[in-house]
Amino acid sequence: MSKIKINIKKLNLFYGEKQALNNLNLEIYKNKITALIGPSGCGKSTFLRCLNRMNDLIDSINITGEVMIDGQNIYDKDVDEVSVRKRVGMVFQQPNPFPKSIYDNIAYAPLKHKIVKKGKECDELVEKSLISAGIFNEAKDILNEPGTSLSGGQQQRLCIARAIAIKPDVILMDEPTSALDPISTEKIEALMLELKKKYTIVVVTHNMQQAGRVADMTAFFHMGNLIEYNTTENIFVNPKKKKTEDYITGRFG
Ligand SMILES: Nc1ncnc2c1ncn2[C@@H]1O[C@H](COP(=O)(O)OP(=O)(O)O)[C@@H](O)[C@H]1O
Ligand SMILES: [Mg+2]
Repeated sequence: MSKIKINIKKLNLFYGEKQALNNLNLEIYKNKITALIGPSGCGKSTFLRCLNRMNDLIDSINITGEVMIDGQNIYDKDVDEVSVRKRVGMVFQQPNPFPKSIYDNIAYAPLKHKIVKKGKECDELVEKSLISAGIFNEAKDILNEPGTSLSGGQQQRLCIARAIAIKPDVILMDEPTSALDPISTEKIEALMLELKKKYTIVVVTHNMQQAGRVADMTAFFHMGNLIEYNTTENIFVNPKKKKTEDYITGRFG
């Protein structure tokens, strides 16, 4: 049995009057890749943002239920969201490096949070993060160039390096390759398989082939409901719900 890293219980989310997530219950396993699939607007991104309290930034939102990470509900009153975001890093659809050098993109948050001291310790963290994100060789001689001077795929790996640098144990990715070409996509997918040895990864993808290639577990969402959650193989080969089967066979999108 795999260890449970995140345990979501009776999670409901409202944008104003509108309910976007409907009584979700699921267990996300440690050192696995969990894919969230489902048609546009079904709540995948909304759900992902619940896992590091990114939704706190949105007015008029109301969340009930629990998101337990390592046994602690991240919505407990005495948990502050900055500490949550240190444990749970995020990578977005559009690569979004800061308007800073490659080095500073990675060093900024660890210095700010005093995870490392300026100088050798910080240099080592930058190097280690770039290596872990599979972009060290491409970046090592241009650390002072702006992050935005890299290609799209390289920028996304820089963003992954930046996420890793704060030493999270969960990495959330919201359609991390949908803005990338096939070769960059392949590199990110290979990287994800490498990263899951150390991190728990939750990835939103609208590309079912991608879920098939990388994910151990897959959750299918529809209109704010979790319809089916199982091993990726079961979801694609042996879905239990008609709705899941209709979706994965392309009967609706
Ligand atoms: N900030 C927001 N304010 C109000 N409604 C939102 C907001 N973000 C998303 N929604 C709504 O919540 C639903 C789920 O959206 P989203 O989580 O973005 O879906 P997905 O990522 O699966 O495409 C949609 O109906 C969307 O319009
Ligand atoms: Mg989305």
